[in-house]
Parts: sequence; C-alpha cells; structure tokens
Amino acid sequence: MSAWPTRVDVREVGPRDGLQNEAPVPVDQRVRLIDALSETGLRFIEAASFVSPTAIPPMAGAGEVMARITRRPGVVYSALVPNSKGAELAMAAGVDEIELVVSASETHNQKNVHRTVAESLIGAHDVVEIGHAAGVPVEAIVSTAFGCPYEGDVASERVAQIAGHLIDAGADQLSFGDTTGMATPRRVADLLGALDRAGVTTDRIGLHFHNTRGTALANVVLALGRGVTRFDASIGGLGGCPYAPGASGNAVTEDLVHMLEDMEIDTGIDLDALIRCAALAQDIVSRELPSALLHAGARTRRYES
Ligand code: COA
Ligand code: ZN
Repeated sequence: MSAWPTRVDVREVGPRDGLQNEAPVPVDQRVRLIDALSETGLRFIEAASFVSPTAIPPMAGAGEVMARITRRPGVVYSALVPNSKGAELAMAAGVDEIELVVSASETHNQKNVHRTVAESLIGAHDVVEIGHAAGVPVEAIVSTAFGCPYEGDVASERVAQIAGHLIDAGADQLSFGDTTGMATPRRVADLLGALDRAGVTTDRIGLHFHNTRGTALANVVLALGRGVTRFDASIGGLGGCPYAPGASGNAVTEDLVHMLEDMEIDTGIDLDALIRCAALAQDIVSRELPSALLHAGARTRRYES
C-alpha cells in the first residue's frame, strides 16, 4: 500500500470535456457548474476551450464563461486550445493554464484540428511562447495516446516521441488522453514504460481516462502504483469527444475521489460537495449521468454497518 502516493491532484474536466459533448448549455449554467465545483476543494478546473465555434458549438462563449465565473483563490482555471489563435483568446480571457491538444494518431489529429501531427508540433512552439509571455504555464495533451478510433493501436514509442517533442517545444506538463476509452492497465503500463525509457519523468505526467469500456478506475490504480499523481475526471461522468465515434464520459470525479479517499490518498476534495455538484450537472444536462456514487448514495467510509 505504501507504493501509492499519499496525495493526488484531480482535475475536473466536466465543464469542457463533458459539456462539449452535450447539447449546448447556456453560459450561465456553465458558470453555475464551475462556481459550484470551485467550492468543493478541487484545485484544478478545466473551464472551457478556445476552439472554433463551428467545430464545437457547445464551447462557444468561452471568454464569457471565464469573465463571469467567481475565481476562487488557489483554484487553477485552465482551457484547452488547438492553435495559437486559441492561445491568444485564452490569454485575453485570463486563463490560468493553457492545455494544447495534439493527437498521437495522424487521422485523429487531422479530423480534430485539421493539421498533421508535425504541423501541430511546430505550432506548439508558438502556443508555448504565447503562454509563457503572459506568465502562464502550458500543458500539452497528447490525445489518442492509448489507441485511436480510426487507426486502432498507437505505439507507445510514438506517443513517447511526441511527448519528447512537446517538452522540447517548452511544454511545462504533459497529459495523455485516452480519448475513446481504449486504455487498459496493460496499455497504461506499456505507455508509462515507454515514457520512462524516453526520460519523461513521472512528475510531468497527467492521465486522462474515459470510461467507455469500464476501465478508467482500473487504469488509475495501475498508474498510482507507478507514482502518477495527476488525473482528470468529469463530474457525474459528463463527457466524450465529438470527433471520436463511440467515446463516452471521463472517469467520474466523485467515483474517483471516493476510491482515493478510501485508499487514504489525499485529494483535498469534499466528497459530499462533489456529489451535490454531480446532481447539479445532471440537472443541467437533463439526463441521467453514469456516476456510480450519485446513484449508490453511499460512501465506503461512512457506511452504517
Ligand atoms: N478559436 C476560435 N476560432 C478559431 C480558432 C480558435 N482557436 N482557430 C481558428 N479559428 C477561426 C479562424 O479565425 C477562422 O475564422 P474566419 O472564418 O472567421 O476567418 C476559422 O476559424 C477557420 O480557421 P482555420 O485556421 O482555417 O481553421 P479550421 O477551419 O481548419 O479549423 C480548428 C481548425 C483547430 C480551429 C478547429 O478544427 C477546431 O477548433 N478544432 C478543435 C476541436 C476540439 O476542440 N476537439 C475536442 C477537444 S480534443
Ligand atoms: Zn477526453
């Protein structure tokens, strides 16, 4: 048990990765959700993305979302960008951290951002420059890192090589996205091994799992055992990727935090407040979300036996 870290950072991605895949939610509801999440002890919230509103209509109004949220001190409000235009818009909106997305597979990158991977890697230099000029850290997200819905397997060595290029471009952190829930503990171990051989240290690695095939928490446990301490999750299990057929929600934030809490891994997050946010998320999208905890209504440590 001592092999697990004692503290983990959970980044809430529901307001972006979740809501981008829902019917458009009005800005005031997005702001309401982010503000409620800010009160739970979460320290990292992906609040929006600065992308083409034609490509992703639900993320229109990102600047307005950023302007209207109540910034809680100590909370890092990040936004995803695909290119330097997005980075400039994000800086103008006062985003605390940029997440630049690049896919590991050519086909997904082409469909998602209309560029080759090489073009995205060249563009990464500009995005880093824009962020750093404003004193803002830049994380690079490598999506389809555990498999691609169009190409199938993606070699871990290729993912590690792309990660290396992004570090060379100046990225401060990396995150590896399991865009369509293809990751299993074996694939996670494989990628972490390749990253280690490529000299990418664990403190730079964040992981982003989708629960499409029910493996998200199993993947987290594997990664915890290898010392990874940053994980994305979405409230209620909101989420998907509009350019990844069959994608479903992320790891569920409250299910993840419940598991970590019971493993005596500190997240600094109030689970009851999180469950209330999951109920709010469900109201906002007017559909039942896949959260286990919201429906089970019980937390291990507080079972009344
Ligand atoms: N934010 C808002 N608008 C943007 C933009 C950005 N980051 N980047 C480009 N645009 C605008 C351009 O200014 C241009 O506007 P105009 O027609 O009024 O002049 C228009 O979009 C087309 O620009 P172009 O450079 O030709 O982009 P494109 O049409 O090839 O689209 C992306 C490329 C990257 C902008 C688009 O594919 C995109 O936003 N993808 C994001 C996908 C995503 O978020 N996926 C989910 C997360 S993984
Ligand atoms: Zn995702």
